[in-house]
Amino acid sequence: KTTRDLGDLRGKRVLVRSDLNVPLDGSTITDDGRIRASAPTIKGLADAGARVIVCAHLGRPKGTPEAKYSLVPVAKRLGEVLGTDVVFADDTVGDDAKAKAAALQDGQVLLLENLRFNAGETAKSDDERAEFARELASLADVFVSDGFGVVHRKQASVYDVARLLPHATGDLVSTEVDVLRRLTKDPERPYAVVLGGAKVSDKLGVIGNLLGTADRLLVGGGMLFTFLAAQGLEVGKSLLEADQVDTVKGYLDRAEKEGVEIVLPVDIVVADSFSADAAHDVVAADAIPSDRMGLDIGPESSRLFAEKLADCRTVFWNGPMGAFEMAPFAAGTKALAQSLVDITAKGALTVVGGGDSAAAVRQLGFEDSDFGHISTGGGASLEYLEGKELPGLTVLEEGDA
Ligand code: 3PG
Repeated sequence: KTTRDLGDLRGKRVLVRSDLNVPLDGSTITDDGRIRASAPTIKGLADAGARVIVCAHLGRPKGTPEAKYSLVPVAKRLGEVLGTDVVFADDTVGDDAKAKAAALQDGQVLLLENLRFNAGETAKSDDERAEFARELASLADVFVSDGFGVVHRKQASVYDVARLLPHATGDLVSTEVDVLRRLTKDPERPYAVVLGGAKVSDKLGVIGNLLGTADRLLVGGGMLFTFLAAQGLEVGKSLLEADQVDTVKGYLDRAEKEGVEIVLPVDIVVADSFSADAAHDVVAADAIPSDRMGLDIGPESSRLFAEKLADCRTVFWNGPMGAFEMAPFAAGTKALAQSLVDITAKGALTVVGGGDSAAAVRQLGFEDSDFGHISTGGGASLEYLEGKELPGLTVLEEGDA
């Protein structure tokens, strides 16, 4: 069900779960992509006359309030994006939230304080979660699930609350699922997946599944060194997950058997230390000195990746190619983003997934509209591509309570 199926919303209290988990530097939001992506659903409901109660999490507090995880800066930014005042409740289901939810007028928006200030939100115990979900549900008449970035979490505001209230899928979740479905069901070929980011261990499931669907797998970021090690190469002081080398070797063998081309960088930007002013140069991928660490893919690799992507009709990219937050190590990520922009202009479907990659492309000066789709989901989009069941989506298919 979509929000259109909820009927006349005028005067109704609608609880919306959004993913407003944005990166902060102190109280400054460094990438507001998730707020901008969440705003249309909230605005649509408010414009329809609903009394909108938004709930969300920030970071990973452990069930009690912590000032640094407060959603206060998010409320301010959400108000700016919506172009309307957002009422803020200092608690999630306490007296302030109850009073403010009760006082809401048609078309007004209330944001509740961080869901994860309540142990029940993320509790393992079904009963504990259900109890918190009941308190949340008591604030509203209907529930709209729009936090795509959390649909892989079996948490009170994602899963349990949908079993207590009439519910609908928000437009952001619908759009995300539609795009990701196009990647898994008969993608236009050639279909390439580009994976980066620090740890290969976070991506094993998705790599395993992609070996059955993708035509090419391009690997960059910190995880590439475990791939180089699996080929018997020295990686110096680069990030290496020694306990994953055998698994990666297995993947390389499987890829060969299944006809999936694995493309690894041929040159690497190496530095003395993990810092922006470290001395650095470019070396061949098979000649990383023992006392240096790789912090980006080199220019030859960027050219090779561009070549491998040029004829692709579908590309999914997750994870930066290097330590892009430091200018000397941003070129690989920037070049890769440009390759995606180029093929998007030629009509390919390009999907950027994961908070870091999305923040990276914006920080490097690209616009969201340069790509086919920028997913708000990090773990959620990877688990979707892994073929896993996502509790926040399956519960919506169960129908109303
Ligand atoms: C994310 O940042 O991927 C989502 O907001 C989920 O956050 P979590 O990994 O802390 O559950």
